[in-house]
Amino acid sequence: MNLRQVWIVDFGSQYTQLITRKTRELGYSCEIITYEESLECWNKGEKPSAIVLSGGPLSISADDNDYSFYFEEDIPLMGICYGMQIICRELGGKVEKGVSGEYGKANIHFTQGHQVDGCCKDLNVWMSHFDHVSVPPENFDVILESKNNFIAGIKHNTKGILGYQFHPEVDHTEYGKELLEYFYKGLARLNKDWSTKEMLAKASEVVTNVGRTKVLCAFSGGVDSLVAATLAEKSLGDDLHCFFVDNGLLRPQDHHHIKLLQKETNLNIEIINASKDFHDKTAGIEDPEKKRKAIGVTFIETFERKVHEYEEQKGIAFTHLLQGTLYPDVIESTSPHKKGGKSVTIKSHHNVGGLPEKMKLELLEPLRFLFKDEVRALGKELGLNPAWVHRHPFPGPGIGVRVLGELNPGSIKCVQLSDQILFEEMHNFELYDKIWQAFTVFLPVNTVGVKGDGRAYENVMCIRLVNSTDGMTATWCDVPYPFMDKVSSRITNEVSGITRVVYDVTSKPPGTIEWE
Ligand code: XMP
Repeated sequence: MNLRQVWIVDFGSQYTQLITRKTRELGYSCEIITYEESLECWNKGEKPSAIVLSGGPLSISADDNDYSFYFEEDIPLMGICYGMQIICRELGGKVEKGVSGEYGKANIHFTQGHQVDGCCKDLNVWMSHFDHVSVPPENFDVILESKNNFIAGIKHNTKGILGYQFHPEVDHTEYGKELLEYFYKGLARLNKDWSTKEMLAKASEVVTNVGRTKVLCAFSGGVDSLVAATLAEKSLGDDLHCFFVDNGLLRPQDHHHIKLLQKETNLNIEIINASKDFHDKTAGIEDPEKKRKAIGVTFIETFERKVHEYEEQKGIAFTHLLQGTLYPDVIESTSPHKKGGKSVTIKSHHNVGGLPEKMKLELLEPLRFLFKDEVRALGKELGLNPAWVHRHPFPGPGIGVRVLGELNPGSIKCVQLSDQILFEEMHNFELYDKIWQAFTVFLPVNTVGVKGDGRAYENVMCIRLVNSTDGMTATWCDVPYPFMDKVSSRITNEVSGITRVVYDVTSKPPGTIEWE
């Protein structure tokens, strides 16, 4: 099933994923593709119904790629920011090096005789560019300009070629959807071919293609692995084995959730209790990266042991590993500025990545072309309980990265109790669905306080509440004081060893969501 009507060619813009999401929201199938891939596909004869050239951090004057093939066959094309500068360079316009650039909100207006359905004549948009188009190519009209007469939008007067200097995909841009739809519907005349039904068909195809075979699923109970497993179970039945590892770093609600899933779904879920192994392997480790690595290795060893046990005791040999990998992870590894680039490891995320090679398992990733919100929609379509589908994300290393420094049972317990209080109060104050992720972090510093009539010299618990769409960036949440007051007073009263509660007001960047 080929569902990529539109190629979103990525030149490294921080907004390329957003263009893709917005395009799909409008109902058009699309995929992100690198320039090199687009050239390769083109030479092999694979052509899309429309092309979008993304923004990018480079200066067009330093770019010597040949983009002429995009214009060979009159395929509708939209250039955004850097993409509009590509149009100009290729078709004979003039791009000038900027002196100061234009960043942030800008007010622009349609020029005489031009308009887009549903838009006002004047609109505020999000600009982020240094160079600018000073002369459009021949046969192009300037359709939008900014107050200081910068060219903000151009359109070919007979062909379906459109350029926006600003970012219609960003929420700060007014009428962004209308401006995108003007291209897809008005100029490219595409048919809508993307909906939950198509997503479901495409994801199901991945799992049905493997036929009846033994599949192992590293199951966390989070929305991604739950949706992947629910899909796979439909064709695999009991040949799908979901292993949930209890690493001793879970919260009470995780135990409750997994038991509920065992009871209320058709999934064959086995809970592996490996708390002792994780405790032994992390003992004495203070460094966050070493701790993450130790936890990651222990996960793999646990799975390996289980797989051997199945082979030897039950004669079951697994051939595939099912994972809930999402599109942002796939894009991360192919983005022009990540691939082969000097990207720094901020933290090594836990996954069971070492397992497929070691055990010679083939990967099965039915969600690898979907964004998180699309996976949630798919979960709903599959009839999963909305509370499961909208569950906050929880990291693989769990509380292991929420007790700073060395892990010990006392501190782990403090986080478990504090998190339970935090979650109870979020539900009481009807805040759970308004927050993307919430947790508490144990800070191993002592501070002085009074409890009853006595002096206390105890630890600090930090509350972290963030909003985000994909975890790549995040903002701290503004929540009502009475909620904060209740959580703080309950933690200091009910969790022994904690005298002080603090709130983290750091966004990402510069902070990361987890503290380690
Ligand atoms: P950071 O801390 O990198 O977190 O800003 C971004 C999102 O990823 C989650 N996270 C993880 N998820 N394994 C996971 O499955 C991990 O090792 C891991 N580390 C962080 C984090 O909870 C947040 O949602």
